[in-house]
Amino acid sequence: MMQDTVRTGAYQAAILSNASDFEGKVVMDVGTGSGILAYFAVKAGARKVYAIEASNVADRAARLLAANGLSDRITVIKSKVEEVVLPEGEKVDLIISEPMGFMLIHERMLESYIIARQMFLKPGGRMFPTTGTIFAAPFTDASESAHQFHRDRCERCCAVSAARLPIRSVARVSAVNPPIPASDWRNRAVVGSWTAKFGCPISRGVPVIAALWQEQINKVAFWYNTDFYGLDISCLADAAASDHFAQPVVGYVEPSCLLSEGTATRVIDFEKDEPESLHSIDLPFEFAVSRTAICHGLAVWFDVSFDGSTVKHVLSTSPSSPGTHWYQCRLLLKDPIAVNAKQRVVGNLHMAANTRYSYNLTLTMKLGGSEAATTDGSAIESTVHVNLQDQMYHYLSTPAATT
Ligand SMILES: C[S@@+](CC[C@H](N)C(=O)[O-])C[C@H]1O[C@@H](n2cnc3c(N)ncnc32)[C@H](O)[C@@H]1O
Repeated sequence: MMQDTVRTGAYQAAILSNASDFEGKVVMDVGTGSGILAYFAVKAGARKVYAIEASNVADRAARLLAANGLSDRITVIKSKVEEVVLPEGEKVDLIISEPMGFMLIHERMLESYIIARQMFLKPGGRMFPTTGTIFAAPFTDASESAHQFHRDRCERCCAVSAARLPIRSVARVSAVNPPIPASDWRNRAVVGSWTAKFGCPISRGVPVIAALWQEQINKVAFWYNTDFYGLDISCLADAAASDHFAQPVVGYVEPSCLLSEGTATRVIDFEKDEPESLHSIDLPFEFAVSRTAICHGLAVWFDVSFDGSTVKHVLSTSPSSPGTHWYQCRLLLKDPIAVNAKQRVVGNLHMAANTRYSYNLTLTMKLGGSEAATTDGSAIESTVHVNLQDQMYHYLSTPAATT
C-alpha cells in the first residue's frame, strides 16, 4: 500500500499544498498504519499529531517515527479510535485518514472516520479527505480495441457494431444473428452462444469477448453434470451460478468497455454525514447507452476530494486514471442485457452494511423507454446479489494510464 505511489503521492500533495490548514494545528490520523500521513502532517507544520492505530502495526509505526526523530510531535496510540480518550479531553483541528476500501465502502472504515469527527473534531475543524464519491457506469465485457480487431477483419460478425445497426429494439440486435428471438436475450445460454458467434472464426484465439463473464459461466458448467459418479448434480447449478456471480470482480477496467458517456454518482460528505447514513446506501441510475453491445453489468469506482483552503486535490481511481491498489470493481449480471445505442438503462445499486465489515449489494438493471420490453411485453430486467467481501481479483488488463 505504501508502494502505491499514486495514493501516497496524492496524500502528500493534498497535505503539503494546504500547509496553511496544518500550521500550528493539532491533527489526528485515524488508522495511521505506517504513520506516513502523520509524518506529512508534521511536514506541513502540524504542532502535534495523534496517530491512532488499532492493530499491532502501531508498534512498527512508533518505531519508524522514533527512528526518524518524530516522536516529540507524533504520539502513536494503539487503540480503536472509538475507544480513544485524549489527554484532558483534547479536541483536534483536523482529522486525516485513509479509510477507503475498494469501491470506497468495503471494510466499513468510513464509519470509524466519521465517528472520530463526532468524538474529537473542534467545531469548524476540517476532514482530509473531505468527501468521497462512488461512480458507476454500465460496462460490456469486451473492449473497443477488441471490437476494432473484429471490425478490421470481419464484415459479418461486426455488423453488430452500432454504426450499421438500426436503432429500434433489442429484437433488432438479435436479428443480426437470427433466429434468436428477443425474448431469449435474458437467457444466458443464448447470450453465450451469441458471444461465441461474435468471436467469429477469423478472430478465433482472441480471448477478449466476454472473457470475464464466460469465465464465471464456465465455473458453473461443472454443475450441469447429470452423471457425476452416477449422481445428477444439476439441481445445484442455479445455486452455483448465484454463488459465482455474487463475487465482485476487482481489477482494472478498460475505459472503452464503459457503455455510457456519463456516470451515476453518490457523494459521502465526511464533514456532515452521520455514520448511520452509511448503513444503507442507494445509487439509483439512468444511463444513455453510447453503443450497441451486451451490457454485462455495472463498473464501480470512487474518488476522494481534499478540499483544502489553498487548493482542492482529488485522488481518483477511475478507469482513465493512473492505477491504484483499489483498481476498479465490476458487478457482473448473471443474465446480461443486450442494448442498442441510445437506449436507456435504468436501475439501482443498493448497498446494505453487513457484519463482515462490508456490504451486501443488490444490483438491478433494466432497459428503459418504449423499446424496453420483449416481444411478449415483459420488461427486460436483470438482478444480481453480490457479497462485497467475497471479491475475486482479475488483473488481466493494465490501467489505462500505463497502456
Ligand atoms: C488503509 S490502512 C491505512 C494506512 C496508512 N494510511 C498508511 O499510509 O500506512 C487502514 C488502517 O486503519 C486501521 N484501522 C481500521 N479501523 C480502525 C479503527 N476503528 N481505529 C483505529 N485504526 C483502525 C487498520 O488497522 C489499518 O492499519
